Amino acid sequence: MTSGGAPGLELFHGSADRLRSIKNGEVQLIVTSPPYPMIPQWDATFRAQGADGFDAMHDVLEGAWREAYRVLVPGGILAIVVGDALRSTHGEFRLWPNHAEILARASRCGFAPLPYILWKKPTNKPNAFLGSGFLPPNAYVTLDCEFVLLFRRGGLRRFPPHDAERYGSRLSRSERDHWFSQVWSDVRGAAQLRDGRRTGAFPPEIPRRLVRMFSVKGDTVLDPFAGTGTTLWAALELGRSAIGVEWDDDAYARLAEEARGRGLTGSEEGPATSVSGGRDRRALR
Ligand SMILES: C[S@@+](CC[C@H](N)C(=O)[O-])C[C@H]1O[C@@H](n2cnc3c(N)ncnc32)[C@H](O)[C@@H]1O
Repeated sequence: MTSGGAPGLELFHGSADRLRSIKNGEVQLIVTSPPYPMIPQWDATFRAQGADGFDAMHDVLEGAWREAYRVLVPGGILAIVVGDALRSTHGEFRLWPNHAEILARASRCGFAPLPYILWKKPTNKPNAFLGSGFLPPNAYVTLDCEFVLLFRRGGLRRFPPHDAERYGSRLSRSERDHWFSQVWSDVRGAAQLRDGRRTGAFPPEIPRRLVRMFSVKGDTVLDPFAGTGTTLWAALELGRSAIGVEWDDDAYARLAEEARGRGLTGSEEGPATSVSGGRDRRALR
């Protein structure tokens, strides 16, 4: 965000593990959802980045958590939405615990893990058992939760006494009681199809809550796996600046188009909003 200015948007076409255009400590909050390892939808994306298999896919993501640590201010929060995967490989059917792997690897990058949120999606569909589920013992439990993993960089964020932005960002009692409980079961998944492609988008309510819970007005929120930009639009709506990074050419083009459609076109004279066409280039300010 330009100091004292209106909240702005910057988009970068680049990779989450190389955020060269973002300075150390430039960001107060990261809300993101990476491609999920071992989910077939993201196989080609990982393969294009040289990764095949659970460990190699998490090696790619670990680079992003390392960069996240660098660009966050002390006390800044990293919120990662991710689900586990169920998959057979080499004839073995098993759970691939993405949440546990990210907890371990982000901690290794220096983050302190905090209690996480289980996002249990309301569904009308019956559980997909292996077999009927009535006859023990071969059924397995339905994978109907995603995780919102939460990490802090260092100690608590410090503010001057009675800081106006902080007090102006106050939560209501019911927001606090509800959002800080460990299970969220009232948020439906987002429509995922856009132009015939599955996007992996999360519903706007997820970043809206996280932005309100873990940042104050005037902060800068980063999504290094920006996708359709759900985090970015939520941050801007809530008076925060937003930085988005997206690696995929088509997804980046659609994101930039959407920013223009929302009137967020780059201009040196205009608001602090910019769309960068180049790979990881500092965008117009
Ligand atoms: C699960 S989706 C994010 C969806 C997003 N939360 C939304 O609501 O639209 C993951 C995104 O990360 C992008 N991606 C994959 N590898 C990346 C990388 N190395 N750096 C940045 N983005 C990457 C994918 O193209 C995809 O758009």
